[in-house]
Amino acid sequence: MAKPKRFITTPIYYPNSRPHIGSAYTTIVADFFARLYRELAYGTYFLTGVDEHGEKIQKAAEAKGETPQQLVDEMASSFKDAWKRLGISYNRFIRTTEKSHEKLVREILMKVYEKGDIYKDVYEGYYCVSCERYYTEKELLPGLLCPYHHKPVEKKRIDAYFFRMAKYRDELLAYYRENPQFLPPKYKEEILNKMKDLKDICISRPVNQVSWGIRLPFDEEHVAYVWFDALLNYMSGLDDKMQFWPPDLQFMGKDILWFHAVLWPAMLISAGFALPKREIAHGFLTVDGKKMSKSLGNVVDPLEMAEKYSADTLRYYLLTKLPFGDDGDFSRAVFKEAHNSELLGHYGNLANRLVKLWHRVAGKAEIEQEGKLAVDECFAKLESLKAKIEELAASNDVESLLPFYANDVFMDGVGAINAYLNEKEPWRLEPSEAEPILRQALEAFLYVSTLLKPLLPASTSKIFSSFGYEPCVSELELGATLSKVKTIPKELFLFKRVE
Ligand code: ME8
Ligand code: MG
Repeated sequence: MAKPKRFITTPIYYPNSRPHIGSAYTTIVADFFARLYRELAYGTYFLTGVDEHGEKIQKAAEAKGETPQQLVDEMASSFKDAWKRLGISYNRFIRTTEKSHEKLVREILMKVYEKGDIYKDVYEGYYCVSCERYYTEKELLPGLLCPYHHKPVEKKRIDAYFFRMAKYRDELLAYYRENPQFLPPKYKEEILNKMKDLKDICISRPVNQVSWGIRLPFDEEHVAYVWFDALLNYMSGLDDKMQFWPPDLQFMGKDILWFHAVLWPAMLISAGFALPKREIAHGFLTVDGKKMSKSLGNVVDPLEMAEKYSADTLRYYLLTKLPFGDDGDFSRAVFKEAHNSELLGHYGNLANRLVKLWHRVAGKAEIEQEGKLAVDECFAKLESLKAKIEELAASNDVESLLPFYANDVFMDGVGAINAYLNEKEPWRLEPSEAEPILRQALEAFLYVSTLLKPLLPASTSKIFSSFGYEPCVSELELGATLSKVKTIPKELFLFKRVE
């Protein structure tokens, strides 16, 4: 039976500044799952990109003395470059200034308008440009400050178009009930509380206030609210591949869950499309205990960390050392420790030790080309790792997969091989006795390394190219791995110690 599909998305980031550790975090998490599902032979489509319209970008461009187009062109390249250096395996990078995106947004707006779900009225509210959203007075902090940015908001009174979101309240609540995976468990109550007084939402801005946006097809004097525009990237980014619809796993920070959990499905119901399966929110990162901000000068540059350690270290740290879903603290001390003692000490040293021992102790032995290796009992449990990964992936259990990879696959899987070598001490044995032990250890090492591909893509790719073959998890069979390698490298350095 053919495997089902997974359509995986990240938010499209505002390209008003370069990617930082927060956008890298979400993108790396999504990339881990995209790689994992590809390894399991699911039809996988992984979409990311940038959110280029709106007042925030218009203002950022003005401040730099550039046109918005110049700014977004530069920034889109800087995002693409960053994702390349971090090994992000997206299928499509969408920019909301692309003509095909603008066309789709106008088509959907027209559809929703013709359905009677858009009407004109006067809007009065408090706008936070950093959030690109309105707040009511009671949502603000004392002194009329944005609850997220703690900055003054702007009071605005405009002629505007509204989307009849409140009308979909009961349908949304029914969808949440019937699809218990849709809302992230940790933030479910918060969303349900906000649903109690769901209001219609303003979805336009007059062109004389914000010109950098998509014009409404039924009134060219207004541009679409940037969120109405941005959310539709998840559809326009599929191009002609609507067979992937609807999104299966949509990753984001908790700051934008409301848009994805309420506005987005309401738009889709109105326009007549199937709804996404899961909206997955993670917490926010602080840095060494403090809120990350430009003024504190503690913004972590993911590229700098990847350069100093490795792209895999950044990924390993973010995926295994932070409590997914909750707020977490980016700690340079823990980062360094994860690199030196876990990646290098636990895994990298094993890789090099194994291949060196093979050449020193097992000596001239040829790699056995045919047949399955009878696997020692202590490694037989590795097979259950693959079965568990398959099971968790099939049920979209994102929350369990991350700790499972950290503890069971990386720590225990690799740990079993280290323990085996320490117990058998093949370096003390005659070549004929050492050889079968090293075969067992190499088989287990390659097996676990295959499972680790989504977690450590650069290091595992180095391993497999030096062994001269390219395994994938869906075809992985314990005992049948070593026989596929073309050669055993003389040495294998995966990580360098960082002092
Ligand atoms: O909201 N910790 O874009 P954005 C963890 N364009 N994650 C963080 C973070 C932090 N400190 N800071 C940012 C937008 N993020 C809209 C999205 S989608 C249709 C439109 C991550 O550039 C996190 O994923 O402000 C958060 O949701 C996202 O960046 C916000 O990115
Ligand atoms: Mg933001």
